[in-house]
Amino acid sequence: HINAPFELILFGGLGDLAQRKLLPALYLLHRDGRLPAGRIYSTTRRDISATDFAEMVRAALKRHVATEYLEESSWQSFSERLHCLTVDLSDEAQYSLLAGALMPGDINRIFYLATGSDLYTGIARGLHNSGLILSQSKIVLEKPIGHDFASAQAINNAVAEYFAESQIYRIDHYLGKETVQNLMVLRFANSLFESQWNQKYIDHIQITISESLGVEKRAGFYDQVGAMRDMFQNHLLQLLCITAMEPPARLEPDAVRDEKVKVLKSLKAITAEAVSDKVVRGQYDAGVSDGQPVPRYRDEPGVQAKSMTETFVAVKVEIDNWRWAGVPFYLRTGKRLADRACEIVVHFKAIPHSIFPMQHKNTMANKLIFRLQPDEGIRLMLCEKRVGPGMNVRPMNLSLNPANHKQTRVPEAYERLLFDVLSANATLFLRDDELLEAWRWVDPILQAWNDSEQRPEPYTSGSWGPAAATLLLAKDGRLWDENS
Ligand code: BG6
Repeated sequence: HINAPFELILFGGLGDLAQRKLLPALYLLHRDGRLPAGRIYSTTRRDISATDFAEMVRAALKRHVATEYLEESSWQSFSERLHCLTVDLSDEAQYSLLAGALMPGDINRIFYLATGSDLYTGIARGLHNSGLILSQSKIVLEKPIGHDFASAQAINNAVAEYFAESQIYRIDHYLGKETVQNLMVLRFANSLFESQWNQKYIDHIQITISESLGVEKRAGFYDQVGAMRDMFQNHLLQLLCITAMEPPARLEPDAVRDEKVKVLKSLKAITAEAVSDKVVRGQYDAGVSDGQPVPRYRDEPGVQAKSMTETFVAVKVEIDNWRWAGVPFYLRTGKRLADRACEIVVHFKAIPHSIFPMQHKNTMANKLIFRLQPDEGIRLMLCEKRVGPGMNVRPMNLSLNPANHKQTRVPEAYERLLFDVLSANATLFLRDDELLEAWRWVDPILQAWNDSEQRPEPYTSGSWGPAAATLLLAKDGRLWDENS
């Protein structure tokens, strides 16, 4: 199955995502001998020669793949797989061009939609009308799928007219990150943690995805979307699901997805009245990022002068079920923050009483830290005795770092997920109902923002976000982790 030849058609095949992540991941799979025989097609509206196309891909690989992996021989053999097709996806007649270029017969054919999701319905229909969808075909849908519950449902329904649910792969690349899978292994292959994984022992959980980058050259996309739809509705809620779900009965797509859906259905709704209490939205001002002066969001090229788009969101999320009642999950994400980091930090409850001279027993409570980036690893913060006289206690870290194993490099998330699509393994992809449940919960927050005249709270580029985010935790007597 895994070695069957494939054909991968990248729609939006020269876009930012393709250049930054998809083509580099495919190259690395190829280089490691993990791609079966097959071809990769990039579709674009541009009329571009085969040589210029190859040069563009090569330049993208140089930017986004470490030099030590860019051997000339690997590039040469990879470039033989690459093809470019000029197609205007909004013109259905042009899908016959695709039909003419692809191999005949029912092979492992993957349509990867890395365009705006407003094109998904038209593309699925065009593929169907040209007879390109056969039983082995698969479609991969990038996030964000839709901009709210209704539009996501419309896309789900339209794509379902042409593809069976088992052929649809809704991708969220955070699920492909090594540490996220390690989180599942840590939880479900050890008895130590699972017995503590509930409201009796856990005080609260923080999940942060911070970026130092600004909107880059994606303002046209980002200004319409914002951090809630770009990062929160998908990446952050998925990390929450994997952290909070019940143990699935098996490591199979539906067993895992059933558990994630249950988490989403248990999220306490944030009503319009509760938004100001539990949700913070911010927008970056000018400041200094990675040592360089940077402009405010509203002055970025392509951003509207009075844009109300949020570049930062923090939310206090509560889960109404037996395991998590009373345990807040604080989630935040933002652009132009102090550092690039992604961490899930499980804060265990403090000891009930200290017999040692510890002034701050709360800040010394155990923490389990899953770090997804920039370096991947897991740390358990425990207390130990400070060497020497007396009985002084200090925190120490037990570290598990995949880079320590050294036999292999840590694969990029997209390598893992593209390989899973090629081998028809949907465990790390979202099911239709899962996507909708996530939108159902997010919708009232978006609606409340939409109804409000209040602009997102400005924060200085290079800081940790608006003051209101600090206050969100301070109200509960807590602090954000520093993530450094
Ligand atoms: C993407 C968002 O899904 O994730 C981007 O659209 C963001 O805005 C990116 O920069 C972050 O991914 P990673 O893997 O670099 O953390």
